[in-house]
Amino acid sequence: MNTCSNQRRTKKNERALLLLALTCTVLFLAGVASSQIYLPPPPPEPSEYGKVVLDQFSSNSPGGVVFDHWLHRSKFTCRLCHVDIGFAMQAKATGIQAASNREGFHCGSCHDGKRLYDGKPIFAACGDTSADKQCDRCHSLGKTGVRHYEYKAFVARFPKAYYGVDWQAAERSKAIKPVDFLEGVSLRKNHIEKRRDFTIKAGLPFVQPIVFSHQKHSVWNGCELCHPEIFPTAKKEAVSFSMYMNFDGRQCGACHRKVAFPLNNCGHCHPLGPEWIG
Ligand code: HEC
Ligand code: HEC
Ligand code: HEC
Ligand code: HEC
Ligand code: HEC
Ligand code: HEC
Repeated sequence: MNTCSNQRRTKKNERALLLLALTCTVLFLAGVASSQIYLPPPPPEPSEYGKVVLDQFSSNSPGGVVFDHWLHRSKFTCRLCHVDIGFAMQAKATGIQAASNREGFHCGSCHDGKRLYDGKPIFAACGDTSADKQCDRCHSLGKTGVRHYEYKAFVARFPKAYYGVDWQAAERSKAIKPVDFLEGVSLRKNHIEKRRDFTIKAGLPFVQPIVFSHQKHSVWNGCELCHPEIFPTAKKEAVSFSMYMNFDGRQCGACHRKVAFPLNNCGHCHPLGPEWIG
């Protein structure tokens, strides 16, 4: 009787120990997994951030095209290109071609040799080879010395953040004045309605709510860049936000992984988070 209950007790102890070991392993693995989930890989050099290579039709001749967000976002709003002109929010998804450019769409909406920026005509895309010597300014992949703009010299006069240019500070100090209207392409419309800012409640108890400026984002992006594709909702708290979705390039990550300040800048969204990880 006595031995029997002793045996039962050791069995119980064994089981308890096993459970403890199992719990520890699960917790350890969860720790490793979450440290990977919450630690994004560091982004590329700021000069490479937001760079789009277009080489679906031109890789043989005249060579792939390099499009830089750092240059264009200093001159135009996201909304102008991604809503009015209609570029996709995904590299190579628009299907830009020499013909569409020549007809005045896509890059050709601006790069037509006539439209003025700062009083000077913007060099033309995919025009007549014999007459135009500017092809390599766009068809620059793998070539050196063909571009007029170089990242370091161009951003030298802009305020800097933890990572590259502080674009909001540049806008505030009027170092940049992004154009939001393109004659003949944009429609004249009423001013973008004001949106109230709100906080995004955290799913985890230890994570502070996030302050999201609906108003500022509307000015940069218009409504259409977020609704309905990225955030299908017209109701508050309908979206289930998560950091995993962000790292996967959805939700906030649709922009904050590729063009707007990168996700490694935790503190910029999470007020009590570290300024920079990566
Ligand atoms: C002068 C036009 C222009 C401006 C201004 C512009 N974009 Fe883009 N963007 C493009 C083009 C062109 C592409 C590539 C589309 C394609 O390849 O089909 C692109 C692609 C993107 C992508 C996908 C990148 C990838 O690697 O998949 C994101 C995200 C994006 N833009 C966000 C923004 C945000 C945010 C802003 C404002 C801060 C902005 N863009 C301003 C033209 C522009
Ligand atoms: C909303 C207008 C607009 C659109 C759309 C646009 N650009 Fe530009 N782009 C400009 C302006 C303005 C400049 C500056 C021109 C200058 O200073 O000569 C520029 C400059 C450039 C440069 C810099 C060239 C150099 O010598 O460094 C490249 C490359 C370029 N654009 C490629 C593209 C490509 C590729 C597309 C389409 C995918 C495109 N752009 C769409 C307005 C635009
Ligand atoms: C403002 C930027 C820009 C300039 C300047 C430019 N191109 Fe293009 N071109 C593009 C883009 C973007 C594509 C599509 C790239 C791709 O996906 O392969 C393209 C594609 C092409 C193609 C591939 C065939 C096709 O049907 O799309 C040819 C050929 C071409 N361009 C010729 C030229 C020539 C010749 C010049 C100089 C007279 C020139 N381009 C100047 C942006 C430009
Ligand atoms: C562009 C804004 C943005 C940046 C930058 C950002 N986060 Fe988040 N984060 C969010 C949003 C939105 C949520 C979902 C709402 C919430 O839970 O607070 C979130 C949620 C979280 C959560 C709660 C669990 C979850 O998945 O919902 C953790 C933990 C977290 N983030 C950690 C980080 C860390 C670590 C970094 C830096 C490496 C970071 N975040 C950078 C926007 C951001
Ligand atoms: C950068 C992305 C972004 C832009 C740009 C944006 N929104 Fe939103 N919007 C959101 C997010 C995120 C939510 C919250 C969704 C949730 O809580 O489920 C939201 C919620 C809403 C809601 C429901 C809550 C409310 O405030 O009434 C409406 C309506 C709305 N947006 C309209 C607009 C309009 C109109 C514009 C343009 C003036 C706009 N949004 C621009 C991201 C954006
Ligand atoms: C359509 C593109 C887009 C989406 C989606 C987006 N953002 Fe942004 N966000 C921007 C741009 C552009 C800026 C300007 C700063 C920059 O480019 O680095 C910005 C700036 C911010 C800022 C600083 C603004 C301030 O108030 O000072 C915060 C915080 C922020 N985003 C949080 C978020 C969160 C949280 C989400 C998801 C709910 C989100 N963003 C989704 C484009 C976007």
